[in-house]
Amino acid sequence: MIYSRIAGTGGYLPEKVVTNKELEETIETSDEWIRERTGICRRHIAAEGETCSDMGIIAAEKAIEMAGIEATDVDLIVVGTTTPDKVFPSTACIIQRRLGIKGSPAFDVQAACSGFIYALDLADRIIRTGGATTALVIGSEALSRVVNWEDRGTAVLFGDGAGAVVLTASKEQGIISTHMHADGQYEELLHVPAGIASGYDTVRHEKAFIHMNGNAVFKRAVAALGSIAKETLATNGIDKHELDWLIPHQANLRIIAAAARKLDMPMDRVVVTVDEQANTSSASIPLALDTAVRDGRIQRGHLLLLEAFGAGFTWGSALIRY
Ligand code: ACO
Repeated sequence: MIYSRIAGTGGYLPEKVVTNKELEETIETSDEWIRERTGICRRHIAAEGETCSDMGIIAAEKAIEMAGIEATDVDLIVVGTTTPDKVFPSTACIIQRRLGIKGSPAFDVQAACSGFIYALDLADRIIRTGGATTALVIGSEALSRVVNWEDRGTAVLFGDGAGAVVLTASKEQGIISTHMHADGQYEELLHVPAGIASGYDTVRHEKAFIHMNGNAVFKRAVAALGSIAKETLATNGIDKHELDWLIPHQANLRIIAAAARKLDMPMDRVVVTVDEQANTSSASIPLALDTAVRDGRIQRGHLLLLEAFGAGFTWGSALIRY
């Protein structure tokens, strides 16, 4: 039996930090409101010209180094992103070229904030069925490019960054199960209306920004994260108290706390980065994973539940023996 396991993790955050206090200068908001309603204190913002592939490559290189492999060992690249460098080719192909990898399949997955979980699911299935042995799975986002910085309802919520894992084929179980869902009927609650085929001018146009009904998204996110956790545990016959770490998508501390409560998880066993990084969409889960691996909280043998929710709506999870 072939499984896939996480051999290395990596993360990257742009140098520029924007605090809540700085946002107070440009929009009608307050540090207190943002902290209280979201748990966010600051976010990292990509430099001018810094792209999704620029960030993804740095995260990937760190994951490759931790895995103790060469970039040329990689035989599959899957990138979760909603903010690719170009319409085409995929950001995965751009990263492949820039890392000097030749011939491997490389493609992007667009599932908004669930992009990394979708990418991980696909890479795991390809490894388990013998299609690859060493996969680079990346979540990378330059969300600041689709944020309307004059809209206080969304501007306070998002940030940029990238996270990556190297998955290798293994006789030992690593990824235990993955789960993916979507429900397209909620498109209008969270979307960037601009699109190539719909013919909008995508440059700093109102339709090229995130439009969101925050309250409705909040409720659906809490419900979906609760149901995906239940489904994941039931599929594997695992009790919630066996989990060592919950690594949720980092959208809002109140959504994270609600997900933790449903699992009876104390907050000191939940990886939280939303305070420092805000919502980095498909980068948020691999960034949180990398943070807790590198600071020593997550150890080999620990049981991890990763769970995501995003536009679409999409949601998904991964149960992992690290
Ligand atoms: N600063 C100050 N006041 C604000 C701000 C702000 N930045 N934004 C909204 N307000 C005001 C509102 O205008 C409203 O004022 P009113 O009562 O006078 O009308 C008041 O604060 C309360 O607004 P609500 O929208 O009810 O506030 P809520 O507690 O729901 O928090 C929030 C809003 C933070 C957006 C919350 O709904 C949320 O986090 N939703 C989920 C968003 C999310 O996770 N999105 C990403 C999903 S993942 C993906 O795919 C991208």
